[in-house]
Amino acid sequence: MAKVLVATVKPFAPAAVEQIKLIADKAGYDVQLLEKYANQSDFVNAVADVDALIVRSDKVTREVIEKGNNLKVVVRAGAGYDNLDLEAATEKGVVAMNTPGQNSNAVAELAIGMMIFNARNGFNGKAGKELKGKSIGIHAYGNVGRIVGNLAKGFGMKVYAFDPFLSKEAIEKDGVIALSSVEDLYSTCQYISLHIPATEKTINSINFDLLSKMPKGATLVNTARKEVVCEESLLKIFDKRDDFNYISDIAPDCKDVISEKYEGRCFFTPKKMGAQTAEANINSGVAAINQIINYIEKGDKTFQVNK
Ligand code: 3PG
Repeated sequence: MAKVLVATVKPFAPAAVEQIKLIADKAGYDVQLLEKYANQSDFVNAVADVDALIVRSDKVTREVIEKGNNLKVVVRAGAGYDNLDLEAATEKGVVAMNTPGQNSNAVAELAIGMMIFNARNGFNGKAGKELKGKSIGIHAYGNVGRIVGNLAKGFGMKVYAFDPFLSKEAIEKDGVIALSSVEDLYSTCQYISLHIPATEKTINSINFDLLSKMPKGATLVNTARKEVVCEESLLKIFDKRDDFNYISDIAPDCKDVISEKYEGRCFFTPKKMGAQTAEANINSGVAAINQIINYIEKGDKTFQVNK
């Protein structure tokens, strides 16, 4: 009987776990749960005899992979896989996958929700502003960016996007204006919604130069990764511009300074919660277990990210 470990510091909704277990059971697979573990060593120890691993933002380090003597496949139930040591997985012949698109709607809804919260001063009773008529730039037009664009259109916003990997036609078929450079995006849009992954190239790439191009009433919305925003630049832009706002799903390391000095111009979730809905957990959890079964039974490597 193949063993699947679901290791989640931030657990899936119970309904998602139930569905993962049902599918695994039908296929004759055994599911072991390791939720809210206190130490990384608990994770490392739990992986010892499992064939497959389902994780969220859990850190699948070289140590985890090397400890998994029978490990064949790791699925990150979600989009960003910067938490997986792909080099170690490849060296050990372990297939690493993600489940793109499965939690996108939840993340996009949070981006819009945080924008409204911020525009209405945290619902404190004081006059705020509306999203209607404002411009929003989608920085990377992937699964989440596309939904944010669509929702923003529903609010009557003017939607722009920049994505170096997509043609102008692919973006503009959605009624979104494609801009040809990242600088153009930032100088055109009052709101910027980040949807770039955390890679060597993107980490710290959202810097003072870019942020200072934004028009009056600038609001940076981050449901991507905290590491893509340069924190030195963040402190500088807050200091130089009293119209700059930063709302982010996961706080920057300089959260305390910003929150104290620029109260009302920032909002940070207490833990990353973009994908934290029952629907997103079910979608990505079910996709993950199905991908594992399809790989082990049929060698299906769709969604492999360590090619
Ligand atoms: C993702 O990359 O899919 C999101 O950031 C969600 O991450 P989470 O599963 O840790 O909430």
